Amino acid sequence: MECKTHISVRDLSVFYGGAQVLNNISIDIPDKKLTAIIGPSGCGKTTLLKSLNRIIDLQDGVRVSGQVFVDGEDIYDPKVEVTHLRKKMGLLLQRPQILPMSIYENVVYGPRIHGVRNKKKLDGLVQCYLKVSGLWNEVKDRLHSPATRLSIGQQQRLCLARGLAVEPEVILGDEPTSALDPISAERIEQRLLELKSQYTVVLVTHNLRQAKRLADYVIFLYLGNLIEHGPTEQILKNPKYVKTQNYINGEFIEELTIDKELNLKATVCPDNFAKAKLALEELKHGQVLKIVVDYEVAVNEVPKAMEFEGHKVLEIKRINQKDWEILIQKRNGVYTI
Ligand SMILES: Nc1ncnc2c1ncn2[C@@H]1O[C@H](COP(=O)(O)OP(=O)(O)OP(=O)(O)O)[C@@H](O)[C@H]1O
Ligand SMILES: [Mg+2]
Repeated sequence: MECKTHISVRDLSVFYGGAQVLNNISIDIPDKKLTAIIGPSGCGKTTLLKSLNRIIDLQDGVRVSGQVFVDGEDIYDPKVEVTHLRKKMGLLLQRPQILPMSIYENVVYGPRIHGVRNKKKLDGLVQCYLKVSGLWNEVKDRLHSPATRLSIGQQQRLCLARGLAVEPEVILGDEPTSALDPISAERIEQRLLELKSQYTVVLVTHNLRQAKRLADYVIFLYLGNLIEHGPTEQILKNPKYVKTQNYINGEFIEELTIDKELNLKATVCPDNFAKAKLALEELKHGQVLKIVVDYEVAVNEVPKAMEFEGHKVLEIKRINQKDWEILIQKRNGVYTI
């Protein structure tokens, strides 16, 4: 890779008890780019991510061998101070891990631990990072109310603000949008896209379309082995290895043929469900319907209703300020209750 390396992993192996779950991984993760880790469930994505900031140490019975260099320093060297290391790396998990305190206190939690006491400075940090995480306008009038009252999507943006407030160099994300509704997920994606020019971002994702939208580089793991890695285009469009090809083909990442299009703008629920359902009835198994909707309830509810009917939602994507495109693949038969 031509760009500067931020994190270098060398011969990293991880064992849980007797079982080896990562096998001699060596990889350079570029500075100030977004790198996505993809691969089937159980292949070791979370383990690899957690090895990068030594959160893995907190698990019982885990053994790590090999090296991880961050800014040239081996983080598994016994001399390394783990708190300092973790400060460099913000972590976003699948479910937002907010602290049971106010919105304000969540953001200043890290800076307080690191000795910031000045109220003006703390106020400034709260405003700054809530703005960066896109939450400020929604919460500026209730900074001292409990963070638990926020929606899940807002909580995830608060976690992002809290992570950024300790001024990390790296943002690690373990499927941070997978538990969110499409609109909240899109907000987090937008944030990550903006942040990647200033931070090194490493993102575990199950969603190859998300990897395609966000990532500069992709790492493909399979059964604890690094199969291949490289620029996103190359890995998703032109993978070298059959294992990668099979995984990518199975996840429908290739350009889809749209078999039918339906404009459902200004159509409310449940009319839009009914129209989408009717359109899918006219398609054959495996064909793809594209619908366009323009209000938030529909963005969340229409895909849910179509999944309930047994179809597969392939993509939900914002196409401009108001409109969203939803791709649904027709599935015959069985209802999924
Ligand atoms: N604490 C643990 N103790 C024992 N085995 C574990 C532990 N955590 C993970 N594993 C095993 O290690 C392997 C890799 O797990 P990991 O969570 O890294 O996979 P993953 O790729 O993130 O999967 P998913 O996509 O389902 O999140 C799996 O076989 C898992 O069962
Ligand atoms: Mg995982």
